[in-house]
Amino acid sequence: MNSVREVLENRRSVREYTNQPVSADLVQEILSVSGKSASGSNLQPWKIYAISGSVKNRLCETVMQRLALNPSGEKADIPIYPKPLPDPFRQRRYDCGELMYRALNIPREDKIQRLMQVAKNFSFFGAPVGLIFTINRTLCESQILDTGILVQSIMLMAKEQGLDTCAQASWTLWPQTIREVLGIDEAEMVLLGMSLGYAKQDELVNEIKQPRIVMDEYVKMMGF
Ligand SMILES: Cc1cc2nc3c(=O)[nH]c(=O)nc-3n(C[C@H](O)[C@H](O)[C@H](O)COP(=O)(O)O)c2cc1C
Repeated sequence: MNSVREVLENRRSVREYTNQPVSADLVQEILSVSGKSASGSNLQPWKIYAISGSVKNRLCETVMQRLALNPSGEKADIPIYPKPLPDPFRQRRYDCGELMYRALNIPREDKIQRLMQVAKNFSFFGAPVGLIFTINRTLCESQILDTGILVQSIMLMAKEQGLDTCAQASWTLWPQTIREVLGIDEAEMVLLGMSLGYAKQDELVNEIKQPRIVMDEYVKMMGF
């Protein structure tokens, strides 16, 4: 799978991984090519902490312990959503969750199972590699946008290399713990996490095809 089009049409968020390791060389190849992403004034504001093995396990274990005492997490550096999230976005968020829980066969009333599924974010869904994205606190929205471009490059490069990903805003709920465990300076804000690894086959949760709005809803063609 090599054309950008093919990758864009076939990429899905993967939430079950095999334990097949991903070599440091392969991670570096994906991240170095992705580093060619464009950024405003070429600021390249991003930092990426690529973690595996005992470092990843320590972060996951620490968050899981703290999650049990504090299910809502820490004070995030940036909010995941505005409060309240207006429609149509609120409805899309709801539909997205329902599609996933339906694939997993977890009904709405089964709060425990749903919480356990959310908690899987904090094991990077079993992926052998976790990525944490940060930028310096002095930077602003445009540099978050730049980092989003980098994130997409990583998702596409991973796919080209036979790997899969899941971007995870959920990690922004644990910025202090992430900084503490990974030794990241307080000056850096945690923007996103990402799972990276080989997808488990025949897992319904990895087959979900989240729908997209039609182009006319987000494109206005003018002056053609
Ligand atoms: C910035 C960003 C943050 C996300 N955060 C999470 C997350 O915390 N947990 C999760 O399971 N999925 C997360 N996702 C995955 C989205 O739910 C997913 O991309 C969306 O539903 C579209 O599905 P697809 O990626 O399979 O096309 C995130 C995606 C993006 C781009």
